[in-house]
Amino acid sequence: MDLTYRPRRLRRSSSLRSLVQEHSLHPTDFIYPLFVHEGVDIEPIRAMPGANRWDLDNLIAEVERAWQLGIRCVVLFPKVDEPLKTEDGAECFNPDGLIPRAITRLKKELPDMTVMTDVALDPYSCDGHDGIVSSQGVVLNDETIEFLCRQAVTQAQAGADLIGPSDMMDGRVGAIREALDEEGFEHVGIISYTAKYSSAYYGPFREALDSAPRATSTKPIPKDKSTYQMNPANAREAITEAQLDEQEGADILMVKPGLAYLDIIYRLRKESELPIAAYNVSGEYAMVKAAAEKGWIEEEAVVLETLLSFKRAGADLILTYHACDAASWLREK
Ligand code: PBG
Repeated sequence: MDLTYRPRRLRRSSSLRSLVQEHSLHPTDFIYPLFVHEGVDIEPIRAMPGANRWDLDNLIAEVERAWQLGIRCVVLFPKVDEPLKTEDGAECFNPDGLIPRAITRLKKELPDMTVMTDVALDPYSCDGHDGIVSSQGVVLNDETIEFLCRQAVTQAQAGADLIGPSDMMDGRVGAIREALDEEGFEHVGIISYTAKYSSAYYGPFREALDSAPRATSTKPIPKDKSTYQMNPANAREAITEAQLDEQEGADILMVKPGLAYLDIIYRLRKESELPIAAYNVSGEYAMVKAAAEKGWIEEEAVVLETLLSFKRAGADLILTYHACDAASWLREK
């Protein structure tokens, strides 16, 4: 055949392919999510094989391991003891609470590791919502924000580097920025869950923290988070959220979940010059683990291909429970 263009010319050898490779993965792209609890040992999470609830001693060892593998940021989520959960979730700003203690210890023992936090009431709320639920069953926006600001400041006081509001209340990024600045934490960054969808992919995470919305006898509790998290059918709306977060002072924008929302990552990458993060969430992790356990897919290849897809779509950072495995596979390559 008389062909001028033969794209296969550049695929002939591994060295040629690497010369023209457009995207790559590095352990410093990853943010490693970790669950902490008050227990005295490690507790496996049923729907997330390989992920655990960590006690603080073992947490330090695990973060040390992540550091050795080249990971430079972790995000902490608390499994709060049931008696501490209340309707307003006030435990979230207890300076002696689980998360502030974990941050303080981590920053003391591994000061160079970047520590990110999650800001939302759900792990602390007996109703399982990210905001305060009124007696009529409405998740209150403005009332919740004051609590989120106190939570963020408490985390900053403990030494957090990046505050991650995941609650999807309107105006929370601006309010948290102001609260942090007022307390002298102008150097603490905000990684906003900008386009967070009301997704079924969070199931295993809610099991890990026992934080799913739950009915009580005292008031109607919304069964899902669709009055504040985004409708999976919407893409343009993500751009509105991104514009607002940017105006309000977010430092990094996040899309969540990741895999079913690659188009949203791509759109935000075009819309904003800020770093974009993708959250490869618990349900995505569980699906890969389950299929790999059955021998139906090749775990390493599937995970690395998936993580690379986030970079290709335009993400700079990836929150992933595969962080340590992926970092060690990359090292062996
Ligand atoms: C809490 C929060 C959730 C996740 C991160 N922060 C759950 C939710 O919104 O219900 C999910 C993470 C995952 O599934 O891996 N606001």
